Amino acid sequence: MPHSSLNSPIDVLIIGSGAAGLSAALRLPSYLTVLLLSKSSINAGSTPWAQGGIAAALGGIDDIEQHIQDTCRAGNELPDVAVVRRVVEAGAEQIDWLLALGMPFSSESTHLHLTREGGHGARRIAHAADHTGRTLMETLLDTVHARTNITVREHQLAVDLITTHRLGHIDQPNRCLGAYVLDLQSDRVNALRAQHVILATGGAAKAYLYTTNPDGSTGDGIAMGWRAGCRVANMEFMQFHPTCLFEPRAKSFLISEAVRGEGGVLLLPDGTRFMPNYHPDAELAPRDVVARAIDSEIKRLGIDCVYLDISFKGRAFIEEHFPMIHQRCLQYGYDMTTQPLPVVPAAHYTCGGIVVDEHGHTDIAGLYAIGETSHTGLHGANRLASNSLLECLVYGEAAARHIAERHDLAHSRNPPIPAVPDWDDSQVTDADEAVIVTHNWDELRRAMWDYVGIVRTTKRLQRAEHRIALLRREIQDYYAHFRVSNNLIELRNLVDVADLIVRSALSRHESRGLHFTRDYPESLPALAHANTLCSPSNVGHKLCETPIPASSEPSG
Ligand code: FAD
Ligand code: SIN
Repeated sequence: MPHSSLNSPIDVLIIGSGAAGLSAALRLPSYLTVLLLSKSSINAGSTPWAQGGIAAALGGIDDIEQHIQDTCRAGNELPDVAVVRRVVEAGAEQIDWLLALGMPFSSESTHLHLTREGGHGARRIAHAADHTGRTLMETLLDTVHARTNITVREHQLAVDLITTHRLGHIDQPNRCLGAYVLDLQSDRVNALRAQHVILATGGAAKAYLYTTNPDGSTGDGIAMGWRAGCRVANMEFMQFHPTCLFEPRAKSFLISEAVRGEGGVLLLPDGTRFMPNYHPDAELAPRDVVARAIDSEIKRLGIDCVYLDISFKGRAFIEEHFPMIHQRCLQYGYDMTTQPLPVVPAAHYTCGGIVVDEHGHTDIAGLYAIGETSHTGLHGANRLASNSLLECLVYGEAAARHIAERHDLAHSRNPPIPAVPDWDDSQVTDADEAVIVTHNWDELRRAMWDYVGIVRTTKRLQRAEHRIALLRREIQDYYAHFRVSNNLIELRNLVDVADLIVRSALSRHESRGLHFTRDYPESLPALAHANTLCSPSNVGHKLCETPIPASSEPSG
């Protein structure tokens, strides 16, 4: 199989074509050449699946302050308040930008219609009925296609980043030079060189057996960044969405939190409402609380699912607000205008990720991470509903601005991007037993679901750690001996990310937000502002730590 490096470096290589990648591409000045990759079709990420909407405080100063408070409260006080303020304050401008691009938000008379979701103290979610993500993608893509400086290439799977350290220049600061990318149509691995690289590869919920996410949410950017030398934070906080349709044929179909925001209630099989027993905000409590309550009722009663009922709102209301969800449920034989829907929690959102600064810049020069793949400090221990798309937009813009400001400077300061070695597969052969890859996929996801789920214990986490270590060795060995394929590359990433999740969970000796462990059921005030950090430089020592910030240590 021939492999090649591209002749001249691109200005900006964006890996990922969701809300984060597309908005960064559009915010870059048109004199920069941009190559935007998707490992599958352009619409394959989570963004087109987004339903509820984009959280934005459009009601002035009070609304902004309330949105900041809601984000910090949902995040169990762990969010970085300065980051929260910056993102929330940018909300209105992001919505204006989308309106200017032609985004057809739902509206009522002269105003945008704002819906409500759990954890929000007010109606604050701008949306396009219940298909916000699909409409957002259409809007961004229309504009991207009209831009001549942006080239979009589908079915291009980034395998690993190319850095100065990877090339052996460890006496120099680590700088990103590009990426090795498998062209899934030609089976060639190309070395793409770039002045600036943006990871916008989405989350890692596919590490779990049951997820609301599309198949590609395999944490590729987190794993690539980690292997290249980036720090990764707060991976123990995997968000479980409370209401995924309980229907095997649907695989992973979300019933939006906006259904509860518009009055939907959660019921046991006998029709009893149970959320008021768990939280004063009942169905609109933060997501971690609702998911844990459902999990607890399912285990207590030995039932398969609970039910979400909004039928009392009537057909006209449901068809106007939830047309897509209604149609999909009808396909599986459920009419939400007349009956409750069976629902269960499922892995939904990766709150942790690659550590970045306010520009989305990572620990590696020239490398950015934005969107779900990053850890900005916005979400803390539990993301507030609909804050993710907002974060994608805000950091897409921030990274683009930083790149534009630094581009000329970087040219004058940095040596030009050197030639990089072609991908070397002279030592590998064609895979002999693909069953090993498919088996390990299943085993890993089941172990994560059974041992690293909504309720954890140290013993279960240690079991997972042990299994993952075995799987990791086997997968590394397979990777070292056989030609890369889509399944193998994703599995290799998933096992690295699963390892980070488990190590992070083991290092946090308290329960906070999405990380609930029976062995440490309380939240510790000393850890209220403690992020769990995994540092590649600690390999061989303690890989992941939840250090108590100096300011929280008791004095004397
Ligand atoms: P994605 O949109 O996931 O895009 C990732 C991109 O990276 C894809 O193009 C993929 O092909 C590409 N990629 C990945 N790995 C590689 C690789 N190795 N090489 C090349 N390309 C690669 N959030 C909200 O704020 N509001 C909502 O209403 C909402 N609803 C949701 C509903 C569902 C069902 C789901 C699953 C999520 C929802 N979320 C919502 C979360 C939100 O949609 C995501 O967090 C957000 O869309 C992530 O955007 P992104 O650009 O970071 O990544
Ligand atoms: C939903 O519509 O319930 C998803 C919203 C989100 O994940 O932010």
